[in-house]
Amino acid sequence: MLIRSAKEDVKYVMHSREEIAARVRELGRELTEKFGDKKPLMLCVLRGAAFFFTDLCKEMDCLMDMDFISASSYFKGTKSTGTVHLVKDTDINMEGRHVIVVEDIIDSGLTLEYLVKLFQTRNPASVTTVSLLDKVVDKPERFQVDYYGFKIPDEFVIGYGLDYADYYRNLPYIGVLKEECYQ
Ligand code: PRP
Repeated sequence: MLIRSAKEDVKYVMHSREEIAARVRELGRELTEKFGDKKPLMLCVLRGAAFFFTDLCKEMDCLMDMDFISASSYFKGTKSTGTVHLVKDTDINMEGRHVIVVEDIIDSGLTLEYLVKLFQTRNPASVTTVSLLDKVVDKPERFQVDYYGFKIPDEFVIGYGLDYADYYRNLPYIGVLKEECYQ
């Protein structure tokens, strides 16, 4: 059997699974303190945020419900196309709810900006954004996320939900993809 390894394509590990778990635990504690009495509506932005979302929800000790939305703007590339495509909308009515939007990464900021604007038209009590990774970009006008796990440099990262051309999401850590894999 010829196994095609995903790990072989990783240039280096940026955040190990242990570091991620520890940071997710802290974020879960902070969000429980802030929203523990508010029965938040946790909203996962598929597909990249899937692992972060489930881990974060397990680290929050409060009543909550969960919903899933699917948005896409990269379409197999390493740069945003600039257009956010809503693939699947929410199922739960968010009117009067404290909505916590959970993302894996904020890069150009277009996805979160688009989603927050959309949700604000639906009369929620509040909209809070959380992203595991916050890419440091030199654009002061970019959308600012409320909570983040790690600030990261401008490198193309994969793993723990993040993909390149839909591969590598299953890596248990955040890594940088070898250039030859996308050139
Ligand atoms: C990725 C990621 C975020 C978004 C962030 O989604 O999961 O949703 O891009 O980038 P931005 O800040 O430049 O908008 P993608 O479009 O690759 O879809 P996916 O989650 O299904 O991989």
